[in-house]
Amino acid sequence: MKVLFTLCFIFLYFKGYQGQKGSRKDATLSLASSYGDHMVLQKAPAFPGIWGYSSNIGDVITVQLLNTKILQQIQTTVRMGPEGKGVWKVLLSPVGAGGPYSIKIYNSEGDIITINDVLFGDVWVCSGQSNMQFTVAGVYNATAEIADAASFPDIRVFTVAMETATVPQYDFISVEEPWSVASPASVGHGNWTYFSAVCWLYGKYLHQKLNYPIGLVASDWGGTPIETWSSTDALQKCGLTEDSNTDTDEQVNAVPTGHSLLWNAMIHPFLNYTIYGAIWYQGEANAGNPSLYNCTFPAMIDDWRVKFSENKVQTSGNFPFGFVQLAADRDDATISTGFPGIRWSQTASYGMVPNPTMKNVFMAVAMDLPDYKSPFGSVHPRDKQTVATRLTLSGLAVAYSIPEKFQGPFPSNVAFDEQNTKLIITYDMGQTVITTRSQNGFEFCCSASTDVSVCETASLTSWFPVTSLTSSSTTVTLNVPTSCSNQQMHMLRYAWRESPCPYKQCAVYSVVNELPGPPFKMMLSK
Ligand SMILES: *[C@@H]1O[C@H](CO)[C@@H](O)[C@H](O)[C@H]1NC(C)=O
Ligand SMILES: *[C@@H]1O[C@H](CO)[C@@H](O)[C@H](O)[C@H]1NC(C)=O
Ligand SMILES: *[C@@H]1O[C@H](CO)[C@@H](O)[C@H](O)[C@H]1NC(C)=O
Ligand SMILES: *[C@@H]1O[C@H](CO)[C@@H](O)[C@H](O)[C@H]1NC(C)=O
Repeated sequence: MKVLFTLCFIFLYFKGYQGQKGSRKDATLSLASSYGDHMVLQKAPAFPGIWGYSSNIGDVITVQLLNTKILQQIQTTVRMGPEGKGVWKVLLSPVGAGGPYSIKIYNSEGDIITINDVLFGDVWVCSGQSNMQFTVAGVYNATAEIADAASFPDIRVFTVAMETATVPQYDFISVEEPWSVASPASVGHGNWTYFSAVCWLYGKYLHQKLNYPIGLVASDWGGTPIETWSSTDALQKCGLTEDSNTDTDEQVNAVPTGHSLLWNAMIHPFLNYTIYGAIWYQGEANAGNPSLYNCTFPAMIDDWRVKFSENKVQTSGNFPFGFVQLAADRDDATISTGFPGIRWSQTASYGMVPNPTMKNVFMAVAMDLPDYKSPFGSVHPRDKQTVATRLTLSGLAVAYSIPEKFQGPFPSNVAFDEQNTKLIITYDMGQTVITTRSQNGFEFCCSASTDVSVCETASLTSWFPVTSLTSSSTTVTLNVPTSCSNQQMHMLRYAWRESPCPYKQCAVYSVVNELPGPPFKMMLSK
């Protein structure tokens, strides 16, 4: 024993001496930028990954998980990483929710890193454009929301800095807000800085239901299209190989649009960090091409799942993915292109999620939350509480299998009466409530010809609003507009406007949880 100790001592001394002869600084052990004090690691059954750097290839790195005693000890060797540096990575064995723990990491040269106040819980990534970047400081009742953050020390937040890269990065170029305990300062820093309101409120409502730690990682950038958050593999699936926006010298502060620039810099570096799921609020920047989004959105979700799960015991290859269906924007009842098409594409043209193309995907409908007077512009509604409440309900149901009524009413069947003067829509997913507004949002497309393409133009001339309807708890009966009698009836659609109704005043809601029926369009056959 004594001999071993002495040998060890000599070995350490020798290595230390060698290090000093070379560059002692290079030998220093360090962590990847996504790890630090106050972090939340993914709880059991997943294996959380921890990695970092050390220059001595072949050296042994020891990682210990501790509370009052050593609970786990794992050793690994330093190898040459794809980034051309010495790297090491360990997987901790699964740990149940709770904490705090500390993690001690050391090499054979006596370098030690201690990570303090580590919790185990669920880690969610929150991404997208400005409505995800929109911070708690900007929501309604911001003062009260910020003060309330002090009550949730088991929620931890992390904000990735806005950076771009033309090739996948292995580590974040910089971090805006390192892992921080939720507090008025860490959650209410300022408008457009940190912390993301939808991410925070979603995490807070989840925590209130689950009662264990939640780690929230915000990685978002206002104005950005989906192509910049997608890897080249995802884009290829949709035929996007040439980047028409290849502008590698994008100006400082310009909104990045080039293919994969933010995937490379703001998502790829996080792949080694075991996560539970992701939420997404994006699509406004793709409103010019909704049919492409029908491919690019499901393809990005699938690709993130593949890339995050390359190591099978870390993140699930079918991890839950939630999104916010685009909210209302301008106060103009005539706009029927752009956002309605994106909302439809956000569901891969099914109208609702989950569906066969988008499994384990959940959403919050937000089209009925206009905020035309928002000081941040009407495209940034301030009621993120309702958005997060709806997203949490669907997340609890889909991502946690907790029974909740999480979907607004969606048609299961439509049928004309014998005279073709009424169309009966059956909603059998729960009870329906119909408000008594004259503008109910249902429209028929009809024309004298059999050509259905008249329904797909931006013009509203072939679309006729339903002026009266009746309803029961599971059906809505539409009186066919008189302009459509003796015409070819092609299509029916609902809430197909950028801003379909006043605040919380669309036509169809569920009784339980007051969830709006999502917008839809369908072909009609008599
Ligand atoms: C994951 O960890 C390895 C070390 O095992 C490191 O070389 C690599 O850069 C990390 N990958 C990413 C995508 O960060
Ligand atoms: C955020 O913006 C709102 C609306 O302009 C303003 O009232 C508020 O003071 C701002 N908050 C901070 C922290 O700057
Ligand atoms: C959208 O994608 C789904 C599934 O991938 C497909 O069934 C549907 O036809 C597509 N819709 C359009 C309008 O391309
Ligand atoms: C803001 O607070 C008031 C008073 O508590 C409440 O009635 C209202 O619903 C809150 N608004 C939001 C969006 O949460």
